[in-house]
Amino acid sequence: MFTLHNPLDMHLHLREGEMLAKVLPFSARAFSAAVVMPNLQEPINTTARALDYARQIQAQSTEFMPLVALYLQESLSPQELENARRNGLFLIKLYPQNVTTNSTQGVADILSPKILEILRAAQDLDFILCVHAETQDFVLDREVGFHPILESLCARFPQLPIILEHMSDARSIPLLEKYPNLYATLTLHHITWHLDALLGARLNPHLFCKPLLKTPKDQEALLQLALSAHPKVCFGSDSAPHSLAHKHACACAAGIFSAPLLLEALTTLFDIHHALDRLQAFVSDNARRIYQLDRRVQLPKKSLTLSKHPPTIPTIPDLIIPPFAVEWRIDA
Ligand code: DOR
Ligand code: ZN
Repeated sequence: MFTLHNPLDMHLHLREGEMLAKVLPFSARAFSAAVVMPNLQEPINTTARALDYARQIQAQSTEFMPLVALYLQESLSPQELENARRNGLFLIKLYPQNVTTNSTQGVADILSPKILEILRAAQDLDFILCVHAETQDFVLDREVGFHPILESLCARFPQLPIILEHMSDARSIPLLEKYPNLYATLTLHHITWHLDALLGARLNPHLFCKPLLKTPKDQEALLQLALSAHPKVCFGSDSAPHSLAHKHACACAAGIFSAPLLLEALTTLFDIHHALDRLQAFVSDNARRIYQLDRRVQLPKKSLTLSKHPPTIPTIPDLIIPPFAVEWRIDA
């Protein structure tokens, strides 16, 4: 038996409409709160839209707190940021333009005076900046290609906490030591698999994501970061559902749908590596500290007991969950 208190998913795609209704129960069952991504078809780029989206989510799951991030665009004025803070929002998401799903309206010139002005206001207003840290370089170098921009942001805004989301490349790890205001989230898939799982045997479209899975060395280094519950790192699943039709129609839309088995698979992984004593820090305590959640929000209380029995793997029409190893189940 093993108990987790207030699990947190610090990077989650819930989508909208029918898909939201279909996938939300899986996250709400296992997590007390999640950072919810704003890359809907029409980006969540105003306070009003973020509050409306949060209301839609809470109307369907009352015991689950969505922490909705605002999609950074040049139109996100300092006045709008003040409005957002007055309404309890505190996360901004930076998508560089055209690097991933629904990022066509992302930022083209990140170090432009306009964007820097917005980020300065964000720092003054006590926001946290979440970053999809990729360029359009060679596909295995996209995270490293983003380092100069990331380093520039960390150095310019030392009081702004910056989260390198879904860290995928071991070469990013030293930046955590270099910049006191830089943190990272890790997904289950990047610590579980490397490129062989995606394309070593047959191409598996359900393991295609941005940033791409990388080398065995990257996976191993990221896994060790997670298993040690490095204090500057926390869990963010990047569960990103795409219907089967959409996966096929888009010649393989990027996104791995992991939400239904996250805690079961994380517990299994930490158990296999004799690190269960670090899991609470990785899936909750570190995030509470990094995002200073206790002074910002009142998290719904949730304690889950897991036991070492194979869980029932849900089948969900039109969605595929990749084959995570799962030897633990949630009992209550
Ligand atoms: O694989 C991904 N899927 N990476 C992202 O950055 C976006 C996400 C999605 O929205 O599908
Ligand atoms: Zn994402």
